[in-house]
Amino acid sequence: MASLLLCSLMLTMVSLFLGSAADAPICILCNRNRNYTSNSTYQSSLGRLISSLSSSAPATGFANGTAGEVPDRVYGLAICRGDVSPTRCAECFASVARDAAAGCPGNKGATIFYDLCHLLYSDQDFFGSYKASEFFFWNTRNASDVPTFNRLLGGLLSNLTILAAPSERRFSAGSVDFTNFEKIYGLVQCTRDLTAESCDACLRSEISDIPWCCDGRKGARVLGGSCHLRYEMSPFFNVSAAADPQPPRLPPVPANTSMPPARTPAAGVAGRSENGVNQADSLQFDLETLKLATMNFSDQNKLGEGGFGVVYKGVLSDGQLIAVKRLVTNSGQGIGELTNEVSLVAKLQHRNLVRLMGYCLQAEEKLLVYEFLPNKSLDKFLFDPFKSMELTWEKRVKIIEGIARGLLYLHEDSRLKIIHRDLKASNILLDEGMNPKIADFGLARLFGNEQSYGNTNRIAGTFGYMAPEYVMKGQISTKSDVYSFGVLLLEIVTGRKCVSIYGSNPPTDLITFIWRRWDGGNPIQVLDKAIVGGCSTEEVLRRIHIGLLCVQPDPLERPSMSFVVLMLSSHSTSLPKVVPLSSFTGMNTSTSGDTRVTSTPIDRPSHSLAPKK
Ligand SMILES: *[C@@H]1O[C@H](CO)[C@@H](O)[C@H](O)[C@H]1NC(C)=O
Ligand SMILES: *[C@@H]1O[C@H](CO)[C@@H](O)[C@H](O)[C@H]1NC(C)=O
Ligand SMILES: *[C@@H]1O[C@H](CO)[C@@H](O)[C@H](O)[C@H]1NC(C)=O
Ligand SMILES: *[C@@H]1O[C@H](CO)[C@@H](O)[C@H](O)[C@H]1NC(C)=O
Ligand SMILES: *[C@@H]1O[C@H](CO)[C@@H](O)[C@H](O)[C@H]1NC(C)=O
Ligand SMILES: *[C@@H]1O[C@H](CO)[C@@H](O)[C@H](O)[C@H]1NC(C)=O
Ligand SMILES: *[C@@H]1O[C@H](CO)[C@@H](O)[C@H](O)[C@H]1NC(C)=O
Ligand SMILES: *[C@@H]1O[C@H](CO)[C@@H](O)[C@H](O)[C@H]1NC(C)=O
Ligand SMILES: *[C@@H]1O[C@H](CO)[C@@H](O)[C@H](O)[C@H]1NC(C)=O
Ligand SMILES: *[C@@H]1O[C@H](CO)[C@@H](O)[C@H](O)[C@H]1NC(C)=O
Repeated sequence: MASLLLCSLMLTMVSLFLGSAADAPICILCNRNRNYTSNSTYQSSLGRLISSLSSSAPATGFANGTAGEVPDRVYGLAICRGDVSPTRCAECFASVARDAAAGCPGNKGATIFYDLCHLLYSDQDFFGSYKASEFFFWNTRNASDVPTFNRLLGGLLSNLTILAAPSERRFSAGSVDFTNFEKIYGLVQCTRDLTAESCDACLRSEISDIPWCCDGRKGARVLGGSCHLRYEMSPFFNVSAAADPQPPRLPPVPANTSMPPARTPAAGVAGRSENGVNQADSLQFDLETLKLATMNFSDQNKLGEGGFGVVYKGVLSDGQLIAVKRLVTNSGQGIGELTNEVSLVAKLQHRNLVRLMGYCLQAEEKLLVYEFLPNKSLDKFLFDPFKSMELTWEKRVKIIEGIARGLLYLHEDSRLKIIHRDLKASNILLDEGMNPKIADFGLARLFGNEQSYGNTNRIAGTFGYMAPEYVMKGQISTKSDVYSFGVLLLEIVTGRKCVSIYGSNPPTDLITFIWRRWDGGNPIQVLDKAIVGGCSTEEVLRRIHIGLLCVQPDPLERPSMSFVVLMLSSHSTSLPKVVPLSSFTGMNTSTSGDTRVTSTPIDRPSHSLAPKK
């Protein structure tokens, strides 16, 4: 097997095997944090569970279940690759039943991968929450034209994910032409305890790992307990089974998404309750590990600085890139309380949120560890005269929608109802597919002490993005986030910074500037030069309209994020009227813009729009 193997793990010990035969485990991940003793009740529960899963999985390709009673209850799932026949699945599970218990002797939890099936068990209820990217395998050969290869591979895996996530089997496989002679074959699959949304998030997180684990390789696998993907230059799956569109006999999908199934995964982290299970341990990083990863927090590794502290780039010993936020805070919270909160925030999983991987609270240090995103933040593109050209109208639309979904998730779909309070272009990170991910969410909850409604004695946002009631009275609510979102949307459409000043009669902040143009019936003038010609006037006007609705001075007039998402995704939803600027006298939105001017006043030339091709 011409593959190398790398294991990426946080604080779990691991055993590895490279099996040659199809019925030997290809890799095993043992959770050595908790052990059982020989001949204990747990051991017998585990034995019963493995044998029952092994016998029930082949019929449909998947089974999950439990055995025993707390504290000796074991949770497990068994799954076969989606293209495998019940007969082959049964053969695979015959090996599982024979060998699995010996894979991690004494350990309460394990993930055991075979070529065509895998088994996952634990003493904790993990159903519905996902584990991604536990193992990476890659081919040693490199593709010829790497940029083209990556583009096609990314498109293929992303398309497969869109098909797999809402499907009953959480599986899809397919191919794309690379050259005249070569195809790329890909396969993605999730376990069926995941909702469509979690499946999507799980696979996307694995896809985003490919650039650093397997960049340009002519084949790779990324394996996680809850989802896995593989691509090769030859057909490695049963093409006819993969194409089979109607798999009957399967249990119904647990997902209940109110949005249309494909493409618009509504937010909603899956199932698992926050009570009872304390995941904190698995999230804990050791201070020494992080010092090593960031070269003792050297300036060389500094990525940036934000309201809550400095961010450093780090490399774990297994090669995984991370971003470490070193918080400056004198929050009065106790470590126990903080630990609890961090593990709640870490459970927020959404494709438009930066993933919080863990934390370290040790020796006066408060550190948060995030996934590393190579393409930096939105402001680096938006406000750069050359890079802004890369942000086509389609990309901007996608970015706006992604941010809206992420924020909706924070406000309404996560259990925590988080108000971000510092949404701005530099807090939007971009992954390699230019998908937006909101950073720094939950920090206010962790370190700011305030409840979701109420007054804050410390104004913590960024001028220009802050709602007037927040600036003036310290009032925060989801509607103050909606305001910031509106400002951000208008920045994305216009390519102009909200903290600059515009116009000359009199000079004013971005919002008032746009508002005046809107009132004056000439809003299209404000469009970013970089996108003129590439979009339809109607589409642009609709976005500006939505942006203005979000920045209305009265918080009650602003739409909720769920309505924003609806307005953005549907072209038929009619939009409420924007309160005209002339009728608005209550507050000065312009105070924010004038207080901090970071660049010279400009009034860019106006542009006429060419119709969309
Ligand atoms: C569990 O057992 C393994 C050996 O299988 C050992 O290395 C590990 O330290 C044990 N863990 C605990 C928490 O006792
Ligand atoms: C467990 O049970 C087996 C057979 O019943 C016995 O041979 C073995 O000594 C027992 N082990 C322990 C640690 O009690
Ligand atoms: C399987 O997982 C689903 C989804 O999380 C859960 O609702 C269900 O109870 C599990 N089934 C069993 C038998 O535990
Ligand atoms: C493939 O590329 C990687 C890094 O890009 C390089 O380290 C490796 O040697 C290359 N392999 C071959 C066979 O050229
Ligand atoms: C992905 O799907 C889109 C839309 O169906 C299609 O245009 C594109 O060619 C597909 N890309 C790949 C790589 O399969
Ligand atoms: C491939 O799948 C088809 C349809 O499920 C099945 O009839 C065929 O036997 C499978 N072939 C292999 C080699 O498993
Ligand atoms: C699914 O969601 C809809 C709307 O949110 C709700 O009316 C329905 O009862 C839900 N179904 C289940 C099975 O939870
Ligand atoms: C980090 O600091 C420790 C002592 O505090 C030192 O031993 C080590 O060499 C430093 N490492 C780097 C990469 O600077
Ligand atoms: C985004 O990151 C990827 C991978 O690092 C890189 O290839 C790509 O050029 C970046 N995109 C832009 C627009 O910088
Ligand atoms: C609005 O701002 C202007 C000039 O900055 C000021 O004269 C006026 O009093 C302000 N109005 C309110 C209601 O604060």
